[in-house]
Amino acid sequence: MSATPLLAHSREELHGALGKFADAGVALVPTMGALHAGHAALLARARQEVGPDAPVVSSIFVNPLQFAPGEDLDRYPRTFDADLEVCAEQGVDIVFAPSVEEVYPGGDPQVTVDPGPLAAALEGASRPTHFHGVLTVVAKLFGLVRPDVSVFGQKDYQQLTLIRRMVADLCMGVDVVGAETVREPDGLALSSRNAYLDEDQRWRATALSRTLFAARDAARYGAAVTIDAARHELRHARGVDLEYLELRAPDLGPAPETGPARLLIAARVGATRLIDNVALDLNGDT
Ligand code: PAF
Repeated sequence: MSATPLLAHSREELHGALGKFADAGVALVPTMGALHAGHAALLARARQEVGPDAPVVSSIFVNPLQFAPGEDLDRYPRTFDADLEVCAEQGVDIVFAPSVEEVYPGGDPQVTVDPGPLAAALEGASRPTHFHGVLTVVAKLFGLVRPDVSVFGQKDYQQLTLIRRMVADLCMGVDVVGAETVREPDGLALSSRNAYLDEDQRWRATALSRTLFAARDAARYGAAVTIDAARHELRHARGVDLEYLELRAPDLGPAPETGPARLLIAARVGATRLIDNVALDLNGDT
């Protein structure tokens, strides 16, 4: 049976809990709850990073600042009891689950993190304020928890890239680890928003990963063939409303002619917006 994590709702409780782990490195896995096997993998990776004796902290906070009006803030899945079980199973030491007032005591903060030009592309084209909200809350969580290491999923690749950039540009001194995307056996990337899909949509949603895998298989023939392979796969996808399919460099700069690259996709299946991405090697041997 797994030990129950210490539960902290306030800053004071968090600092009290952290104080029980004198001078050990701290790992933080920020989440918005609705934890699934993908999050479990992030928590396992955090434990691997800091070893058996240092504290692994998971925050569970649905951050209003990263949702625009009309997005799914109110219906975002909230499964706190089940989340605590996942944390216990993964040996999390501290769960930090603050209220909105605890994180933003004076209402919306006056000083926030400007995510820079990359935040206007890809996800930012349809969610222009999203990364401003993400980076602001991640900076606050870093300030509250003071982690040495923080683990994020590669599934949200633009988020991961921007967090790395923030940590570098603002000298935050946190080691940001990007953990592999966890997928269902049929390829669908795990996401809390998959819970919105009905059976038919759930099946249609596999078009995203099929598109990415077709592109990855074609990558050895170069960028043009890669994109053709992806578009060919998408032509057969019904009920999938493509928002973007973009080939980029691993740091999300312009795509290279050859070598490591990243292909990113966003599409709506019914009312649900899904994203996914994959690493490719253009003109490579694999
Ligand atoms: O990826 C998420 O769940 C959120 O964007 C994060 C990083 C926890 C910030 O709210």
